[in-house]
Amino acid sequence: MYKTIQLFSFLNLLKFIFNPIKGIKVLYKILSDYPRIQALPNFEESKKIHTIKYYKNLIKKNKNLNNFFFSKVYETKNMYFSIQELKNNKENIIDSLKNNGFVVIENVLSDQEAKSIDNIFKEMQDNTADHNIIDAVKVKYGHKDVVDDIECITCKKNISDFPELNNLSDFFSKMVFGKKIKTIAEFFLHKSLNKKEKQKDDSDTFYHLDRYLPCLKIIYSPDSIDENSGPFCFLKGSHKLDNSLINDWLIKDNIHKIKDEEKIKFDLKEQKIICKKNSLIVAFTNGFHKRNVFNLENKLRKTVFFQYTNNFNKFSLYNYLYYNN
Ligand SMILES: [Fe+2]
Repeated sequence: MYKTIQLFSFLNLLKFIFNPIKGIKVLYKILSDYPRIQALPNFEESKKIHTIKYYKNLIKKNKNLNNFFFSKVYETKNMYFSIQELKNNKENIIDSLKNNGFVVIENVLSDQEAKSIDNIFKEMQDNTADHNIIDAVKVKYGHKDVVDDIECITCKKNISDFPELNNLSDFFSKMVFGKKIKTIAEFFLHKSLNKKEKQKDDSDTFYHLDRYLPCLKIIYSPDSIDENSGPFCFLKGSHKLDNSLINDWLIKDNIHKIKDEEKIKFDLKEQKIICKKNSLIVAFTNGFHKRNVFNLENKLRKTVFFQYTNNFNKFSLYNYLYYNN
């Protein structure tokens, strides 16, 4: 709302007159922005309750979202599956994702596609790529951002460069939202600079929710992720939108992350997601998740992220009939 009010400033009006196409794009982005948990803390309690209830009712109208985010949680022990099971026996995978909020698919890519992913990471590491645009997607090679005790290099690529990952993204996004959702491949190269990374207040090493409404993230890991390379952790079942303890926390708390000792109050089991090389982690990051700290110096972690809130946005929630067909 604050952003919408800001739009009508005199300066923005001038900008709009001089560049109307950009103005329309910015306006669309603000109006279609998928509801954020960060926006809730500014609201008074009654408005938070109303807003959460309003969007939850809207989510229920999308039959796929209703199935994944509102159905009762059953104990599903298996969370690790092979790519063959995805082809032949996907019901178990759907069940595990529905109940736990994440699954890991092992041995996902052919040698050829795994190698092309590896080449991108090599270029990022050596800073050898000399082009800025690939398939109309801007690439931020060599853009270095030192956060905490971690160095992070990122770059974005067109997902169609990686047909197998593209198919997997289509498969999971259709299953969760009802239609295939377009996205891009975001490459992250994390490197630990100190012996043990310190946990800082503003880092993603605390349990947090990305959004309070359905949020799918798919992460490809070319290497194995062990205890020392900052594995992801998830509170099983925390993606369900009718969890009253999480709802109370959303309404009463003014922060969107919790300290480790606070997780006990949600009465959910914690799962550390250690995985083999060439694995895909599919997770609902509106559930409580975090990245563990790196335990060793000079430890590298390569990941490719696929996110969907840009193309499955607030308007998509209102357009549920299209996603139900
Ligand atoms: Fe997150």
